[in-house]
Amino acid sequence: MTATDVNPRALHIAALTLALSGVPAADLREGSLFEPVRADEKYDLIVSNPPFVISPGARLTYRDGGMGGDDLCRTLVQEAGERLGDGGFAQFLANWQHVEGEDWQDRLRSWVPRGCDAWIVQREVQDVNQYTELWLRDAGDHRGDTAEYRARYDAWLDEFEARGVKAVGFGWITLRRSGGDRPSITVEEWSHPVEQPLGDTVRAHFERLDHLRAHDDAALLEARFRLAAGVVQEQVGLPGAEDPEHVVLRQNRGMRRATRVDTVGAGFAGVSDGTMSAGRILDAIAQLLGEDPVLLRDRTPSQIRLLVEQGFLEPVK
Ligand SMILES: C[S@@+](CC[C@H](N)C(=O)[O-])C[C@H]1O[C@@H](n2cnc3c(N)ncnc32)[C@H](O)[C@@H]1O
Repeated sequence: MTATDVNPRALHIAALTLALSGVPAADLREGSLFEPVRADEKYDLIVSNPPFVISPGARLTYRDGGMGGDDLCRTLVQEAGERLGDGGFAQFLANWQHVEGEDWQDRLRSWVPRGCDAWIVQREVQDVNQYTELWLRDAGDHRGDTAEYRARYDAWLDEFEARGVKAVGFGWITLRRSGGDRPSITVEEWSHPVEQPLGDTVRAHFERLDHLRAHDDAALLEARFRLAAGVVQEQVGLPGAEDPEHVVLRQNRGMRRATRVDTVGAGFAGVSDGTMSAGRILDAIAQLLGEDPVLLRDRTPSQIRLLVEQGFLEPVK
C-alpha cells in the first residue's frame, strides 16, 4: 500500500493510525497526488478523499488543493487511469463545477481517462452562496472579524463569477480499468439515502453493465434474470380504485433506488426468478394482456436494460 500527501504531519498521523489498527505499515510518500508514484507502479485500488473544495486561493491544505476551480479533482481522476492495473478500481469523493451553458454531466464524462469505465453519482448540489457559507463556516471564519468574513465571502463569489460557476456538485467517482474500447460511463444524480457500505454494490454495478454490453437485444431475450433481494412493489392510487395510478419498484438494499414501472415491467420483475428466459416471460405476459408477442419482444428490452442497469434485476449466469 502506498499513500501520498503534501503534508508530512498527515503522513505521520497515517502511520500512527495504521499501527494502532494493527495493519501492515504502508509506503508513505510526501508529494502532490501521483507525483511520488513511478509511472510503472500499478494499483488494484486507488482511493482518495482529496482536498476537493473549490475556493479562491490555497489557504487551507486540508481542503484547498491549490489548483484553480475543480482542477485538482479532474487531475486526480485523469491521472488515476494510468496508475490502475487491469480490472483495478479507483474511488474518489469530489466536487465539480456547474458552469453556465455547460452540461455538468458532459464535464464529468470528459474527465474519465481512456480505458476506464466510470460510475459517477452526484449526491448533492449547492448554489454558490450555500457553498461559500458552508466552507467559511467549516473553517470557523464566521466566528472571526465581520469585515474579514465579508471580504472572504466576496472573494469567493468573485472567483465563481469569473469562472462562470453557478453551483457546485458533490459526489462519488468510481473508475474501473477495463481496457475496452467501448467504455461504459454512467453519470447520474441520486441524492437519497443509501445502504452503507456500498462496496459490493459498486462491484455488482460494473458486472451488470458488463453483462448488458455483452448482450444485444436478441441475446438479452435469451438471458435469464432474477429479481434482486430486497426489492418490493408499491402501488400508488386512490383508495378503492380498481387499478393503481402507478406502480413503483423499490430497493431496500444498496442504492435504495425507486423506479416507476408499467404493467409489463412490474409483471416481468415479479416473474423473474431466474428460471425462464426474458423472452419466454414476455411471451407469457403478451398472452395474458392480449398483446402481440413480437411487438412486446421488440419494445421491452430497453426497459429490461434499465432495470438491470439500476440493480432491480440481476443476470443469472
Ligand atoms: C480532506 S483531507 C483527507 C484526509 C485523510 N486522507 C482522510 O481521508 O481522512 C485532504 C488531504 O489531502 C492533502 N493534500 C492537499 N493537497 C494535496 C495534494 N496536492 N496532493 C496530495 N495530498 C494533498 C491534505 O494535506 C489532507 O491531508
